[in-house]
Amino acid sequence: MKLVLLGPPGAGKGTQADLLATGLSVPKISTGDLFRAHVSTETTLGLLAKSHLDAGTLVPDEVTVGMVTARLAEPDTCPGFILDGFPRTLTQARLLDEMLDHDGRRLDAVLEFHVDTAEVTQRMSGRRTCRACAAVWHLVHRPPTCGRCGTCGGELYQRADDEPATIAHRLQVYATQTAPLADHYHTCGLLAQIDAAGTVEQVSQRALAALMPALG
Ligand code: AP5
Repeated sequence: MKLVLLGPPGAGKGTQADLLATGLSVPKISTGDLFRAHVSTETTLGLLAKSHLDAGTLVPDEVTVGMVTARLAEPDTCPGFILDGFPRTLTQARLLDEMLDHDGRRLDAVLEFHVDTAEVTQRMSGRRTCRACAAVWHLVHRPPTCGRCGTCGGELYQRADDEPATIAHRLQVYATQTAPLADHYHTCGLLAQIDAAGTVEQVSQRALAALMPALG
């Protein structure tokens, strides 16, 4: 299964990508996670990406596409993959099509998650991430254990881009630069729209139901 997840910041793409990756036995590839790993280890790419992540703007296409091209060349992606947060511009979408075409691969489906702005803002405001294993928690919906990561016990932090002003800017960037991708994938016959309100389990069931035709 070769899958793209679209949706505004905080819609729950990463949460659903983890569940789908486990269920479908394919790797999750999150460009946000890859950038944050580069930032924390202070690589050249991380130093370049940091100001964009902090401001809630997009990292330039050529940098992002280069990073994803390298990741998709790794052998664990042969059976499939789940792209979380990529593509995010029409240029990235076209280059992804070319990249896959070149390898004789093509996407099976694109899921677009819909949630209203109040809910995504609430989800992002309560999000806490583990510094050690990058597991994602929520103060209300997926509470950590005694203030620490429920998976590995690591220290939790609040993402710098989950501040209210940056959240608002990220939502605006999504609306102008990424939302138009839905039309592109609808035209390709790949798009399925998912109501992402409700519990993680409810959204997961809707996502799996939408994938049934592609799963055969
Ligand atoms: P990225 O990390 O991809 O951020 P995003 O797309 O803004 O998405 P989020 O990670 O904020 O949210 P999500 O939808 O994954 O939600 P989650 O599952 O965590 O990108 C960060 C930055 O990197 C960008 O701003 C940009 O600078 C750069 N970047 C990344 N990709 C790029 C690209 N392709 N091109 C250029 N730049 C790029 O859930 C959110 C919270 O809600 C969690 O606490 C979770 O526990 C909770 N939750 C999840 N589902 C539910 C539910 N159903 N009910 C209640 N709570 C829920």
